[in-house]
Amino acid sequence: MTAPKQDLTSAASQTGGVAVASGVVVGAAGAASAPGAAPATPASAAAPAAASAASGSGSAGVAAGAPAAGVVERPLTHFRTLPLSIKVNGAIVGPTDVPAGLMMIDYLHEYLHLTGSRLGCGQGICHACVVIVDKPDGTSEEVRTCITGANFFHGKTIRTIEGHAKRNDAGEVIGVSPIQQKFLEHFSFQCGYCTPGFVNAATVLIERLQRQPVARDKVETTITEALNDHICRCTGYVRYYEAVKEVVLTTPGLVKEAA
Ligand code: FES
Ligand code: FES
Repeated sequence: MTAPKQDLTSAASQTGGVAVASGVVVGAAGAASAPGAAPATPASAAAPAAASAASGSGSAGVAAGAPAAGVVERPLTHFRTLPLSIKVNGAIVGPTDVPAGLMMIDYLHEYLHLTGSRLGCGQGICHACVVIVDKPDGTSEEVRTCITGANFFHGKTIRTIEGHAKRNDAGEVIGVSPIQQKFLEHFSFQCGYCTPGFVNAATVLIERLQRQPVARDKVETTITEALNDHICRCTGYVRYYEAVKEVVLTTPGLVKEAA
């Protein structure tokens, strides 16, 4: 998997002429990369040229050698990077150098092009962004990717929403998971923005119940607690709840009769 390359020259032209590569911020006139524009002037050359032009026109208050209007000096911007190796949906990815502060959801979207994990609140509240972490002891858990750095996942095994369905060798979906199937049957979504998070949460719950079956009289409470953090803005929770309850009650081994 190849990390996207940051084209700072291009970025400068798209952001009103802000370039960080040279340590000099050049105004739109200095970017000169738009179609039909004059050949680009190196930022380091543009600053004194612009300053000279300003003083030559009689502008007051511009000292010789000072940056002209529209030219602001900024320090170089450096991103500290760390190598990231990770197993995603069964495939080992990396090592890839990623910025130390990069959030996991941005890594998934921008580096791996796995855009199924949803950025909702971006503050750790809605849980739309969760992925499943498969731990060495065989358990699984949800982790919010909007508030967790990509490097936290170094060496870990995760599943994203893209990893639930069965696919053929061509990558085409040939079957969905039991949770996905029940969500479809119950039409457990409206816009669907929260659905990846709900699918992951319900999957973690089912896997936990496979290890530790729940007493029948605790089924409803257990499902409520498992889905409680996932905020849905469209439909309420009844359809999600009913879909998960049906999976729990119809899958052998998840429910035990009270002792
Ligand atoms: S987007 Fe991550 S918790 Fe809301
Ligand atoms: S279906 Fe729209 S946020 Fe849940």
